[in-house]
Order: sequence, then structure tokens, then C-alpha cells
Amino acid sequence: MVEKLRIGIAGLGTVGSEVVTMLQMRAGQLSGQSGRQIEIVGVCARDRTRMRPFTPGPWTWYDTPEALAVAPDVDIFVELIGGEDGPALNAVTLALQHGRHVVTANKALLARHGLELARLAEAGKVALAFEAAVAGGVPVIKMLREGLAGSQINRISGILNGTCNYILSKMETEGLSFADGLAEAQRLGYAEADPTFDIGGFDTAHKLALLTSLAFGTAVDRDAIHIEGIESITLADIRAAAALGFRVKLLGVAERNEHGIEQRVHPTMITHAAPLSQVMGVTNAVSIDADAHQRLTLIGPGAGGKATAAAVMADITDIARGNVPHPFAVPATSLTPGERVPMQAHRGGYYIRMFVEDRPGAFATIATRMAEHGISLESIMQRSGTEHFLGATCVPVVLITHATTEKLVRDALDAVLADGYVSERPQIFRIERE
Ligand code: HSE
Repeated sequence: MVEKLRIGIAGLGTVGSEVVTMLQMRAGQLSGQSGRQIEIVGVCARDRTRMRPFTPGPWTWYDTPEALAVAPDVDIFVELIGGEDGPALNAVTLALQHGRHVVTANKALLARHGLELARLAEAGKVALAFEAAVAGGVPVIKMLREGLAGSQINRISGILNGTCNYILSKMETEGLSFADGLAEAQRLGYAEADPTFDIGGFDTAHKLALLTSLAFGTAVDRDAIHIEGIESITLADIRAAAALGFRVKLLGVAERNEHGIEQRVHPTMITHAAPLSQVMGVTNAVSIDADAHQRLTLIGPGAGGKATAAAVMADITDIARGNVPHPFAVPATSLTPGERVPMQAHRGGYYIRMFVEDRPGAFATIATRMAEHGISLESIMQRSGTEHFLGATCVPVVLITHATTEKLVRDALDAVLADGYVSERPQIFRIERE
């Protein structure tokens, strides 16, 4: 008789309910794949009486996640509560301290406390598994930890937030406003409880922090990431990008360069030829540049109950098979400290859009400022549409630069602003040659 594997699930929202359903429906498949009989023994949710899309099993209800985490009959504690501190942190810490395996979808928790939690898991020889925390149903954690073990990874870039990609896609394909795109993403259940996490780039940064640690062997450090969101992107930017053969995407990028591991989250212009530019809607994608493979790209559903639950199922099955790897691929003690590479040192091409006063000399002055800072322009064009600012008629002007540094671009734009031809701070997107 094989030993049962007993599961406790904290959080029965969209993802938790799907995990319950999958565990109920696929019991036979799971025991076939893992050799263990997997059974839910305890659950915990804020509201016991809420209607849920599954038939409750003969499990015990617990009042708090902490009580469930230390219940004597729980082997795997599945944390689907969310939040970087509070009950999620307390319960996961307790579970690990009491020798329970932990499976979590909580990227915010891990981006902040990943290192200390990994140390606890390793001390207790239990798993801290988080496939569901990054890119929903896309198995990128396992790919980095196992499929690419032994490879040298030089760069990761990804569309890691379904909500942002959904909004940008809708703006481009249907001309939706930013606000309408966000409302739709919220209605469809893609967005975080506080959508600022999505549109401000923080959710992408949490996920990037985990990928960076796995790929480069650095301690998870979300504070090492330069973060910009998508709030300031206008339809005009998206149309200008399209006219130039680009799409605007919110990317998380981590790459090894002469300064260290540069980590950044920001709106990015990528050419239509790049695989990531074809990724539309709530879909996520991660491209990995590894020495022997050159480029690998994984594309799949990044948010939503079923896809995220499938990733939780993969972790549970792995643990049932006895696979208990180091959470961040190498022992937590050997992870090197993360280091913030200043964004000013970033090198690449830039898209700059500004509203320029429509009078003689404006164009020439801008071009001169760019030249004074050693910035070579690939193109400069005046777009249609005017805006009025302090009584002056302003027209949108778009510059595309050849590779330069962020510092030079910022300095040049400060000089342009000081010249007084420009009505507001320019919009800047970095161009990635994906
Ligand atoms: N709010 C997240 C997203 C959910 O939109 O991608 C998945 O982490």
C-alpha cells in the first residue's frame, strides 16, 4: 500500500477552487504519474459559505492558514492567499519550520522573502515550489532549474504580466483607452486585487526577481530592479510605434553585461519580427538566451485560474515523486548578493516622443542637442495631430536613436526642455532588438 500524500490548501479563490477541482478529477492520473495517492485533508478560506465550483470533500476546515500550515496530517501546504507579508508569510514560515512542503503562487511573498524562506526549506529538507508564481501556466521555473541546468544564461526577457499585455493589445487592436482596457482585464479576473501592481510594473518585477535568481544564481532582490509601468502610454504612442514597425510591450529583462546583472521592467519597443511582439492578450512569454541554445521562447497563458492551477498541480506531482530541489536551483547559501546596475548605464536605442512648439528652429535645436550629446539619430519625424500648450501650437515629434546610453538621452532631453520648445516631459521607450 503506497503512502498517501496529504494536502492542505489555504485560499479557495479562482486558483484554489481550480486546484481542488483538478485534484478531485485527476486522482487516478496523479497516482499513476507519481505513485502516491494524493488527497486533500484540510482547507482554509475567508468565507466558508461562499458558493464554489466543486463538491466539498471530507476535509477539515481550519479558521486560519497558520493552523492549517501546522496541522499534523498535512504533508504539503498549498498557499494561495497572496500578499507579501501577514498571514501568507506567517503560514508559509510555520509550514516550513514544521517540515511541511510548500507550494505557492505568491510572487510578491517570494520576491521579498524568497531567500530566507529558501533557507528554511533547505534546513527542513522540504520543497518550496513556486511554478505558479511566474507566468501562470508556462513552466519556466522548471525549465530554468532543470532543463537549463549546466547552461550559461546571458539574458532573459519576458512578458510576465497578462493584465498589461491585455491592455496594450486592446489599445492597439481595438483602439481602446487605457482605462477601458484595464476595466476589461479586471472584469475577466486577470488583474491583481490592487491593479497598481499590474500597471505599475511591480508584478512583473516580482516575477523577474525570481527568474533572475534562478538564471544567474543571485539572491532574490526585487530592490535591484528598475521599474516603470505602462500608465503613461497613449494611443498615439502605440500608433507611432506601429507606423515604425514596432509594438509596445511591458517587458521584464535581466541580462549580464559589463556592469553586472542589469534588471529592468519598463515599456519597450520591439520589432514585429521578434517572437515576443507576436504575444497578444493575456498570454505570457519568456525568451531565454543560453550559450548553447541561443534563444528559447516559451509562450502560454499567464493568468487565470486553470493555467495557474495547472502549475500548482505540476509542483504537487513533483513533490509526490520525491523531487525536492533547492528552491533557487543552488543552495541558498551559495546565492551571490544581487546588485543594482544603475539604469543610467543602460545602453540601447530609444524612442522619444515629445510635443514641440510649431515654430522655426525647433527641429534644428532638438537635433543639435542630440548631436552635442553624441547621440546619433536613426529617424526624426513629425506626426500628425496638434496640442495647445500655454497659447502655443505644439506638434508631436518622434525621434528614434541609434544605440546610446540612458544618461546621454536624459541629459540631452534636459537640455531640450531647457530650450523651451517642448510642452511637457518627453515620453521615452527603450528599443529592444529582440
Ligand atoms: N495579475 C497577474 C497578471 C496575474 O495579470 O499577469 C498572474 O500573476
